[in-house]
Amino acid sequence: MADITKEINRRRTFAIISHPDAGKTTLTEKFLLYGGAINLAGSVKGKATARHAVSDWMEIEKERGISVTSSVLQFEYDNYCINILDTPGHQDFSEDTYRTLMAADSAVMVIDASKGVEAQTRKLFKVCAMRHIPIFTFINKMDRDARDTFDLLDEVEKELGIATCPVNWPIGSGKGFKGVYDREKNEVLTFSDTEKGTREGHTEIISMEDEQKLTDFIGDAAKEKLQEELELLEGAGAEFDLDEVRAGDLTPVFFGSALTNFGVEVFLQHFLEMAMPPRPRKADTGEIDPLTNDFSAFVFKIQANMNKAHRDRVAFMRICSGKYDATMNVKHIQSGREMRLSQPQQIMADERKILTEAYAGDIIGVFDPGLFSIGDTITLPGKNFRYEGIPTFAPEHFARVRQVDTMKRKQFVKGITQIAQEGAIQIFQEFNTGLEEIIVGVVGVLQFEVLQYRLQSEYNVEIKLEKLPYEYIRWIENGPEIDLAHLTGTSDMKKIKDLKDQPLLLFVNEWSIGMTLDRNKDLKLSEFGRGNM
Ligand code: G4P
Repeated sequence: MADITKEINRRRTFAIISHPDAGKTTLTEKFLLYGGAINLAGSVKGKATARHAVSDWMEIEKERGISVTSSVLQFEYDNYCINILDTPGHQDFSEDTYRTLMAADSAVMVIDASKGVEAQTRKLFKVCAMRHIPIFTFINKMDRDARDTFDLLDEVEKELGIATCPVNWPIGSGKGFKGVYDREKNEVLTFSDTEKGTREGHTEIISMEDEQKLTDFIGDAAKEKLQEELELLEGAGAEFDLDEVRAGDLTPVFFGSALTNFGVEVFLQHFLEMAMPPRPRKADTGEIDPLTNDFSAFVFKIQANMNKAHRDRVAFMRICSGKYDATMNVKHIQSGREMRLSQPQQIMADERKILTEAYAGDIIGVFDPGLFSIGDTITLPGKNFRYEGIPTFAPEHFARVRQVDTMKRKQFVKGITQIAQEGAIQIFQEFNTGLEEIIVGVVGVLQFEVLQYRLQSEYNVEIKLEKLPYEYIRWIENGPEIDLAHLTGTSDMKKIKDLKDQPLLLFVNEWSIGMTLDRNKDLKLSEFGRGNM
């Protein structure tokens, strides 16, 4: 037991949220470098290989040269066992990216210092905020011209609604970037752009008391500006409070440059100290303590066809409590079946490592004979609780799906419902008809291609997609109380229903959502659909 507690407490499981090109991959690579990275080569989609991903899990990956799947990287640093959940962010942004956040205990938010808060960061942040997980901000690319520091912090606070507390403070940016001031230690870490990619930099540490040395290194002008900014900050900034950080109400902010390896290790060290080990997770019987002996997990992602030769599906689960070992019997709560998880593995980008044991906080991928659904709970035999379900996230792209050959109706319905069950797409119907008119919603447009490709290659069904103009979907929270027939929306609003006959509304823009809410005072809309338990 002591061992289990120790193992679990040294785990830090997190996701990196950012907009494409903010530097997530570069930062991850630097983390791995400090960890003496197992598997460094090829484990992160390094820039050189990013457009030619190594995976052969799906034909489409090869064709597009991107990774449709997300994975986890595990490495050790300073006696911590770190799990970084990969959150695909480029064209492969999908509902899985959101679901991955349900398996994280905290998040690192990477922001490009010249751009500030961008669209994808905003979306991913919302999901983290819903879960109240701690968020740590790394403002990257300080070696390029950056926006004013106060403006950046202000934007994070206003746009995302989270208080900020800078742990260090940048001195200049771009060609004039001199380093960062460490507020706790009252010293300056100087920047030098000579150690790209290497571990040891030539950072000098200068105490603020050592005025002469400071002037020599950063110059009078930068020193004066720093002092002015620090005075302003004392009056304006939030005080550091670890409880608020852990409640997700305050984000510690760090400045650096992932590419030149500046400020990354300091960030990692602070992050590991401040972020928490796996926390208790909500189940229908109350919270489940991760530090018990009893293994439990939930499925947060299902990946089909990772190996085309075997047509297999892999269910990714996050271990929530206890220890898993490959010889144990487990119970799949939703089916009531007892079983051994087959081929438990940790998926490292292109490589699969067979696992013999894993602990709360870890992610394992197991072979799925078509039994698991997203949100399912796995426990020890004899237990009978269910973890809180994973919400359905709002798709942003919609299309009407038509079969080319209407004779293949059965395969079509089978294929499309199967793919929806895996969670790659969501399917809806016209409000007043059945499955003859299908509307598909996806988070990332690539999923349309995945759908088309998979229906063709696995079910031999050819489809045509007719894109619809809607970008926003809302679940009606108080459905039974609302008289849908008389709901007065805007002229471009569309009523649809999901496969469980739950009503939903599609909108072209946010303005329409506002108008509809104005016109129907009792209506309650939600951006998240309720997950299955
Ligand atoms: P992502 O995973 O968030 O999409 O971003 P990624 O790390 O791939 O970085 C996007 C681009 O930004 C890359 O340049 C990368 O080198 C650059 N970058 C990352 N961190 C920094 C930084 O701290 N400073 C500067 N100046 N650039 C940074 P690229 O031109 O797209 O690729 P490459 O050809 O340079 O590798």
